[in-house]
Amino acid sequence: QLKPPQSLSAKFEGSFAYLTVRDRLPLILTKVIDTLHRNKNNFFDEHGEAGIEAEKKAISFLSKLRNELQTDKPVLPLTDGAEDIEAWNQYMQRQQSLMEDEQPVSWFKSPWLYVECYMYRRIQEALWLSPRVGDFDVFKEGKTQSFFESQQATKSLCMYLREVLIGRNNPNKNPLLEQFLKFLQVSLWGNRCDLSISAGQDNSQKTSPIDTLADLQRFILVDDSADLWAVLMAAQASGGTEIRGATVDIILDNAGFELITDLVLADFIVSTGLAREVRFHGKSIPWFVSDVNKQDFNWTIMQTMASNHKETSACGVQWKRYMKEGVWSYHDHRFWTLPHAFWDMATEAPDLYSSLQSSNLVLLKGDLNYRKLTGDRDWEHTVPFGRALRGFQPAPLCSVRTLKANVQVGLQPGQGEKLTSQDPDWMTSGKYAVIQFFSPPKE
Ligand code: F6P
Ligand code: MG
Repeated sequence: QLKPPQSLSAKFEGSFAYLTVRDRLPLILTKVIDTLHRNKNNFFDEHGEAGIEAEKKAISFLSKLRNELQTDKPVLPLTDGAEDIEAWNQYMQRQQSLMEDEQPVSWFKSPWLYVECYMYRRIQEALWLSPRVGDFDVFKEGKTQSFFESQQATKSLCMYLREVLIGRNNPNKNPLLEQFLKFLQVSLWGNRCDLSISAGQDNSQKTSPIDTLADLQRFILVDDSADLWAVLMAAQASGGTEIRGATVDIILDNAGFELITDLVLADFIVSTGLAREVRFHGKSIPWFVSDVNKQDFNWTIMQTMASNHKETSACGVQWKRYMKEGVWSYHDHRFWTLPHAFWDMATEAPDLYSSLQSSNLVLLKGDLNYRKLTGDRDWEHTVPFGRALRGFQPAPLCSVRTLKANVQVGLQPGQGEKLTSQDPDWMTSGKYAVIQFFSPPKE
């Protein structure tokens, strides 16, 4: 493997990484502190004085964390005794060995991906070291709110899905491929609704998602959907009479409307027989403000079932059934909340890697997954996607992502330059997107 280019980092003053570490991360920490404070009475109701003590203790850890970040202090080893700390502390040593002149690994001098992941892990440490608030999800309120603010869009999407599924036998209806592309694109643009980029500000979907697709098409910089379709078709053709259709893994990103769009896509591919199984992958701790964890996943299905809108609730009921029957399943793995690039997965999380190897198609949602796919490096835009993956190739895979960080590979010669001249913020505004596919070479 050739050595990859340098990591994006806050050490490049004025870069998006720098602005994130300087402005956005401290703001997120401040909001976490506020949230704990606002929930003081709830902690009291549950645990009495001990609850208040725990809340104070967590807040003092978090204030210290914010101070360390803002004054560019060295990154500290984790101490909460959880089973992932060895992996974290080893990774820190690896970072240390990469530092020039034996400088300490610190917030502004280290890779952005690493310190950003580390911050979320330290938030969890602050809670775990304050036992009675240990399982409080500091981002839950924001996720719930964004779910409710997207109700209108959810209703129209669920209604559309039911119509498509009911009308499927009608020969005048759009062919399957056309419908598939629509649901895939809705899931793609659903990725704009993340709360990390807006530091928790409202970022929900207000308009009907289907109607806007045609206008958005020109913002998709790489569109490999035809390859996805080919993979699904191939899985349908093979496997004899009983086992037909693909096993699809969806590496989830954000809760709220984006999760709804992912569930709708999964419903569509299973209900039409394009896939026979969908395995969802979420985070095991609260992560990057809006990322899905198990509780969010189950909650979202329950809420959808409980909707007073007929089609929405019908979707929820179907989703519950798919979960119960095992057609759908939810999985988490600590690897998703480690700072490693995915090219480390085979050695760092061999069990996860081998489970993905049994997939026909791995869909990776969102920007953070793209950063991890490419190691968050300063790649030339024309470097082939497969090369930036550096050996991460468990199965055919596809990034479904709106651009929110300074990394984008696999473009045509001149495409990146042209975008930079027209729209200098093209990589970070969330306005552009990719559906970028890679398939391991056949043996
Ligand atoms: O810090 C902001 C940011 O980290 C992005 O730049 C980042 O990759 C994104 O938030 C999270 O986006 P997503 O939810 O699409 O992974
Ligand atoms: Mg996210």
